Amino acid sequence: MILYDFPKDFLFGTGSSCYQVEGSIHADGKSENIWDKFSFARPEMFKATTEPTSGFYKHFREDIAEMKAQGLKTFRFSLSWTRIIPNIDGKVNPKGIEFYNNVIDLLLENGIEPFVDIFHWDLPMYLYDIGGWINRDIIDHFVHFARVCFENFGDRVKLWSTMNEPSVFCFAPYQANRTWPPFAPNGTDLRAGILAGHIALLCHFRTVKLYKSMNLGGKIGAVIAVVPIYPADPSGKDKMAAVYQMERCSGWWLDPMILGHYPENILRDCVAYRDNMPEGYAEDIKREFVPMDIVGVNYYYPGRVEYDENEPALSKHVENYYVQEGQYFEAYPAGLYDVLMHMKEKYNDPEVYITENGLGTKDTYNKEEMINDDGRIFYLREHLRMLSRAIKAGANVRGYYYWSNFDSFENAAGYTFRFGFNYVDFETGERTRKKSWYYYKKLIEDSCVD
Ligand code: NOJ
Repeated sequence: MILYDFPKDFLFGTGSSCYQVEGSIHADGKSENIWDKFSFARPEMFKATTEPTSGFYKHFREDIAEMKAQGLKTFRFSLSWTRIIPNIDGKVNPKGIEFYNNVIDLLLENGIEPFVDIFHWDLPMYLYDIGGWINRDIIDHFVHFARVCFENFGDRVKLWSTMNEPSVFCFAPYQANRTWPPFAPNGTDLRAGILAGHIALLCHFRTVKLYKSMNLGGKIGAVIAVVPIYPADPSGKDKMAAVYQMERCSGWWLDPMILGHYPENILRDCVAYRDNMPEGYAEDIKREFVPMDIVGVNYYYPGRVEYDENEPALSKHVENYYVQEGQYFEAYPAGLYDVLMHMKEKYNDPEVYITENGLGTKDTYNKEEMINDDGRIFYLREHLRMLSRAIKAGANVRGYYYWSNFDSFENAAGYTFRFGFNYVDFETGERTRKKSWYYYKKLIEDSCVD
């Protein structure tokens, strides 16, 4: 018999982020972050706005009841920086604290373990206005925000992440062809992107250090997107390109955070990176490095690359075999297994949580068709089989967070792609369970994939 089961204490859950689900962007003293600002100012980019989205701010009680009904063991969410600290003076907004206290208490009353991200891309406008991630002043603001979060929630929250997918909020905004809030709208600026990333790493280290010094009894890490990269032609130079590419994407964050230095082969062989490193970067990392307790891994899709003669370390992306009409990302379940083995082998078997994995489908069908989401069930079954296999093969994985509970605001696609277990009518706020909702519930009950 072959059984795809899970350890008894395995944490099954779902994930979200504040500006993607909360709405109520001006309620109770909250000020604007870059998404609130630019989704309204540049609707053509985001195809929607951060209001109303699924409205977690108003609906959190019923949403948590829905999580409980589904049997979730854990829920990942992020704290809205501008709800908690609305202005550059750093003063705390009691209403912001009250909201997250209510959320955390209700989760715990329902036996759902909170996993909290301090920062999931919602940079306050007051920090954007002074240069955002390329102004080192952000470090003190970040650490102050983290301290406020630890002081107010650290007695009950035991799983923390400093930040979600730094490549997206550091590199993407400086690449003109990407649709994130545009820091360099008229050109690309790799140097600024690298500096932003470096400053983000310093924020991460200081926050981990602070958390450890407070002895709150929980664990802290960061959430990184790990894309398994395969060579287009496995017989030649594309293999080298695939190694570089993986180092440049996930290794750029995981190496410093876990091993205490940037990927050496990129600094050696990739001129574009080497020549644009901030002054004193190696000393900075050496001085500030603190190991983290856990790693959050977001896995959605694989990459396939070809060697590029002009810049060997900047490989060319090649379309892979798994693209499917109507899906936001190309699903490749075996990539999850590969990613977990990579984490185990390269990073010395850290404690891992799959903090995101999910299927976004295009909003072109009628509601009935969207609710009968057999495609999402297939997606879950295949990915969770791979996860079970990886655990049996020795990967140290403690939890899995499906993205997401409810259809919500998707960064570059607005409301045109839906990831949720619950269908959301964005006009009325009404939620309707999809077929996959029941599938995941049964899977959690059985602690086993069918
Ligand atoms: C990763 C991001 O963390 C999240 O914000 C986003 O919605 C999902 N990917 C899906 O694209």
